[in-house]
Formats: sequence, structure tokens, C-alpha cells
Amino acid sequence: MRYIGGKSKLLQDIDSFVMHKINHEIKNKTFLDLFAGTGIVASHFKKYFQVITNDSLYASYILTKGYITPNEIPKFEGLNKIGIIEPLDYLNNLEGTVGFITDNYSTEKSERMYFTTENAKKIDDIRITLNHWLNKNYITIDEFEYLLATLIEAVPFVSNIAGVYGAYLKHWDKRAFNNIILRHPILFNNGQDNKAFNEKAEYLTKSIVADICYIDPPYNGRQYTSNYHLLETIARYDNPVIKGVTGMRAYEAEENSNFCKKSKVYDAFKEVLTQVKCQHLFISYSADGLLSKDQIEQILFTIGISSTYEFRGIEYRLYKSKIVIKPKVNEYLFYIEKK
Ligand SMILES: C[S@@+](CC[C@H](N)C(=O)[O-])C[C@H]1O[C@@H](n2cnc3c(N)ncnc32)[C@H](O)[C@@H]1O
Repeated sequence: MRYIGGKSKLLQDIDSFVMHKINHEIKNKTFLDLFAGTGIVASHFKKYFQVITNDSLYASYILTKGYITPNEIPKFEGLNKIGIIEPLDYLNNLEGTVGFITDNYSTEKSERMYFTTENAKKIDDIRITLNHWLNKNYITIDEFEYLLATLIEAVPFVSNIAGVYGAYLKHWDKRAFNNIILRHPILFNNGQDNKAFNEKAEYLTKSIVADICYIDPPYNGRQYTSNYHLLETIARYDNPVIKGVTGMRAYEAEENSNFCKKSKVYDAFKEVLTQVKCQHLFISYSADGLLSKDQIEQILFTIGISSTYEFRGIEYRLYKSKIVIKPKVNEYLFYIEKK
């Protein structure tokens, strides 16, 4: 999934940095991805470590809980008993029904062009069916979260947006006409009890312990709550109060992230880095972020062993035709061993 600040293109850089700093000692280690987003970093490191993911967005928690932490596809014994052998086939073949998403995010009854009516009705039908199955105990909570993850993963492929849900396109993009299709993820079995959390990092770091912690917080003023509001509403399916042209869910002030606020980010960063209980601390941050490299170093030298500190700047080259104009460092990677 395309995601603001997503690290899919930097996995090799992060991997080589992490492996170098931990001396390739992977046995019995836990890896905490504290701001997991799509979970792509945790998913990458699952082949080496027990992974723990966390994100304050419920949609992101669902993605990682359903797609990253399981080692195998759930058994769906309760559904099998009522004759449903392959739940994704069942869900993919639902007719569609009018519900909150159709009413508010398709042109059936609103002006909003996020989904075709057909896909919106399918999303509603799938969402209502999942709640029904859970209420009737046909599925366990783990199975519910797994199936919901397949829906959250599928929605962006039929959304009429330019990447984020802050606005919908005013013309229909051809992707919107695809039929929404749920698919099983390719799961890697690391034989570990992987875990997912849905907490603010400021809160979770009071209690969680890991060997390696990877920190990839938001780096600018764009709140993930606003930019992914519709994924959040589909995940929660809680009929929220919505507002404005885009139908954004009305968030409580505390649901927004202090990492996206210039006046709060330094203290939030310091609080999380001070609290987190781990030996190896890795941080990704953008060179265009709200905090400067100096400010991050200042915090790291307070909470870590200075002699272990290492920094890498990841460059990308700016091309004009085939001529390289100049390389520019656009991503920072920091390491320190905690005191
Ligand atoms: C830069 S993105 C992470 C991207 C992720 N590494 C990936 O590659 O997909 C930052 C994430 O932090 C989450 N977030 C923002 N504030 C948070 C907080 N206080 N605690 C936990 N997660 C938070 C956002 O919801 C977002 O998913």
C-alpha cells in the first residue's frame, strides 16, 4: 500500500544498518516496530526476529495484526461448521448492501466520489457480515482481525483518490472501476508469538520491553488521522460523526499525533526515547522533518551511550533526463545503544 513515509523502498538500507549494528546476532531477539504504519518493516524483519508492532491508528493495527503477526491462515472452524469453507470466496461473492460507506462515500446518496456505488455496497456488505460472524461467535477475534485486514488491504486498490483520503478525485480514475477483491496474504512462519498493539507510543513505551526498537514516527504536519480517515472508518465501522466536503470523521483532539505538531514534537520524541526499554535503538527520520538532525542527536546523547552512536544519511539521486543533477540526503538513520 502507498503510505505517507512508507519505507518499502528503504528496506535494504535499514536491513544492512540494523544487521551491522547488532553484529548479525539474531537468535532469540525481539524487534519492536513502534510506529508500524503498513507494517512493512516488521514484515521484513519477521524472518529474523519475533516481531511486535504498534500504531495509534486502528486501521494500521488491523493491517499488522491480520497480515504481519500470524504465522498461518486461521482455521475458521466455526465458519466451516455452518458450511462456509473459504470465507474470502464467500465475502468476494456478496451482492452488496447499502450502509454507512455507500450513504456517505459514494454518489448513491452523497456527492462524494471515493467509491463507485457497487464497491461501496460491497464494502458495507463485507463489513456488516464480519460483525455478524463475530457477534454469532462463528469467528474468533483473531479471525475477525485477519479478515478485516484483507478488506483494509484491498480498499486502496478501488479508491478514487490520489494516494491519501484527504480528498477524492473530481473525475473517476480507472482503478475505481476495479471490483474489490479480498486476498490472503503471503505469510512467513517464524515460529514465534508475534504481537500487535494499538496504542500511542508515549503510552506503550511505559511497559513494553524488546531487544531492538525501530522508531519511524511522522515527520511533518500531515496527520495520519486525516489522511487515512476513511480506512479508519471502514476498520472501526462505528458510524462516526463526519464533516465537510471530504466527510472526514470528527476526531477527538487527543487522537491527533504530537509528532505532527511543531510545538510538541521535541518533547514527544524525548518522552518516547527515554521510556522505551530496549538495548538497540534505531530511528528513521526525514531530512525535511520538523526536528533537525542536531535536535535528534541531542536527545540520543541524553538517553544512550555516546560511543555507540552511528548515523547514516540515505541519498537519492535527482535525475534530469539521464544526467544526475546532484545527490541529496533525504532520509536519516540513527542508532544508539540505550544506557
Ligand atoms: C512514518 S509512518 C510509519 C511508516 C511505516 N514505517 C511504514 O513503512 O509503513 C508513522 C506512523 O506513526 C503513526 N503514529 C503517529 N503518532 C503516533 C503515536 N503517538 N503513537 C503511535 N503511532 C503513531 C501513524 O499512524 C503512522 O502510521
